[in-house]
Amino acid sequence: MALVLLPMSMIFIFLAYKLYNKLRFKLPPGPYPLPIIGNLCAMGAVKSRCFFEWSQVYGPIMSVWFGSNLHIVVSNPELAKQVLKDNDEQLANRYKNWTHSRLSRNGKGLIWADYGPHYSKLRKVCVLELFSTKSLETYRHIREDEVRAMVKSIFKDCTNPCDYGRGLVVKKYVGAVAFNNITRLLFGQRFGNEDGVLNKLGAEFVASLSKKAERGAFFAIVQEIWWLRWVLWPQRIGLAKILADEDQLKRAIMEEHMQGSQGQGEKKHFLAALLSLQEKHDLTQDNIGALLWGMVSAGMDTIAISAEWAMAELIKNPTVQWKAQEELDRVIGLDRTVTEADISNLPYLKCVAKEALRLHPPTPLMLPHRANANVKIGGYDIPKGTAVHVNVWAIGRDPKVWQDPYRFRPERFIETKEHGFGFLPFGAGRRMCPAAQVGTTLVTLMLAHLLHSFAWSSPASPEGLQPKEIDMSESPGLVCYMRIPLIAVPRLRLHQHLYKHML
Ligand code: HEM
Repeated sequence: MALVLLPMSMIFIFLAYKLYNKLRFKLPPGPYPLPIIGNLCAMGAVKSRCFFEWSQVYGPIMSVWFGSNLHIVVSNPELAKQVLKDNDEQLANRYKNWTHSRLSRNGKGLIWADYGPHYSKLRKVCVLELFSTKSLETYRHIREDEVRAMVKSIFKDCTNPCDYGRGLVVKKYVGAVAFNNITRLLFGQRFGNEDGVLNKLGAEFVASLSKKAERGAFFAIVQEIWWLRWVLWPQRIGLAKILADEDQLKRAIMEEHMQGSQGQGEKKHFLAALLSLQEKHDLTQDNIGALLWGMVSAGMDTIAISAEWAMAELIKNPTVQWKAQEELDRVIGLDRTVTEADISNLPYLKCVAKEALRLHPPTPLMLPHRANANVKIGGYDIPKGTAVHVNVWAIGRDPKVWQDPYRFRPERFIETKEHGFGFLPFGAGRRMCPAAQVGTTLVTLMLAHLLHSFAWSSPASPEGLQPKEIDMSESPGLVCYMRIPLIAVPRLRLHQHLYKHML
């Protein structure tokens, strides 16, 4: 009897709650939610695409139910402005699902923290001390070293007689830059050698990151239904183990730093900077650990994803690749390699990076915000506690903002400089990415080296001489890699001695 009564009463509570909300609040329209699961089962794996399709039916502001949690998705610049500017403060909390809540220890770092004194303290440290223009200069040699190491490694692999003419997995090389850059920037250490072989600490590091990313579709649904979460006890144990391993790793890195046993490691890095600022900003070691650890995930995938998508577009659009190379040859020539100082003289290349971010923002729904008060967006009520997403992926394809939106045409950024809330790869407002400048610089520098040093094409398809079609679909997740990693064939453009003397 209890087995029948329990689900019945759950359905009754859900329907009563929905009715109450319907009468009390004027919510945005959206797909009809089923009891208990809401719209979860109808949702495609790649949410930005699914929400884009739904927005064509229900309009640019939609209600979507993740179980019994209300989420609002906005998909045009005017509504994005209302979220990120007009109601910025009221919508500055973070929505954390069950996994994010656990893995972030309920928002101990910056990324998943709710807006409040703890958040403001960490954000201030980030903006003033870690991502200032001065700091961008201080860590420039790290970016340049790592990008040069990437070129050297591609050169080595593509000139290997066994692999000559074979396609390379681009993600392997851009991912190594992103990983080494972030570990050197944060902890002053490279956790692997020149050939990409990880040391013990590095292997533990990578294992800990990949374990964090492993989750299944069943899990994704169940975690949104609070009264079903008891079935997640194996995952609960798994997450606790991930956090314990992470703590151990953090301690090992901190201890190495304290003992000054970094050998050839950097002297200047974020950990050292934060430890020296502990008193000034009232930071505990716990604060520092949480802040830096969050940045690993925020700053690693986003960089690799941006570079991989940009390369895919450049191979699909050989005229754009050729134009970018023509600019590089004109400004730099073929007798030396690129430096970061050259970027300001490469306006077309900068537009290539922007155009790639427009069509393929690495976090297509940004990171979820949450209302800390009742607000109105687009004339609809957004009750306190609601999760709010800005579909940056959809806005980048809005024909009202972008002419011929599906075409990869970097020139559009030369013709029109201001795109306001139509171009939001880094978000906007008080939760905007604090590393937007670093991110843009590193991605542009990677593209500069990749295009100056090599000409890129698709491997021939197995059927014939035609280049293989590139699959431009996304993998699901908060950050969206290419579903099928890009494979491309590099051809040398410079004299061999320049590759050999890269480092
Ligand atoms: C192309 C590269 C990058 C892109 C496209 C990007 C994009 C974003 C976006 C969309 C957000 C959320 C904004 C919001 O919620 O309103 C964000 C937040 C954040 N990003 Fe980035 N990011 C990039 C690189 C980086 C790097 C390299 C780092 C660190 C080294 C970083 C650190 C952060 C942090 C700490 C936050 C949280 C800010 C907050 O909640 O206040 N990002 N990023």
